[in-house]
Amino acid sequence: SSTSTSAASGDWQKIGTAKELDQNGQLLVKNSPVGNVLVVGTSQAGNLIAVDPTCTHKGCTVDWKADAKKFACPCHRAEYGTDGQVQKGPAEKPLKTYTAKIEGDAILVKG
Ligand code: FES
Repeated sequence: SSTSTSAASGDWQKIGTAKELDQNGQLLVKNSPVGNVLVVGTSQAGNLIAVDPTCTHKGCTVDWKADAKKFACPCHRAEYGTDGQVQKGPAEKPLKTYTAKIEGDAILVKG
């Protein structure tokens, strides 16, 4: 429900492990305690990017393009920067972003 979603926001939530993140340099978790979340980065680099990968146009899941350092939607080709801001339409609203960190072996995300 919407009540449980808002209860989770503001708290750090474990959504995966550093090992899972390091396998592909990204970690997609659907229906985590904070919602759908895509974390990009590696435990070594430390500087994690985390967004809700649900495209704000019509709800497809965006892909991380490591070379271009942006998120691209496979449905109608909207593009977003690492800050979630729209770089190319048809999307008009930014992706929701999260704060992410690594603590021990855990990837933690907060809304
Ligand atoms: Fe992403 Fe249309 S759903 S661009």
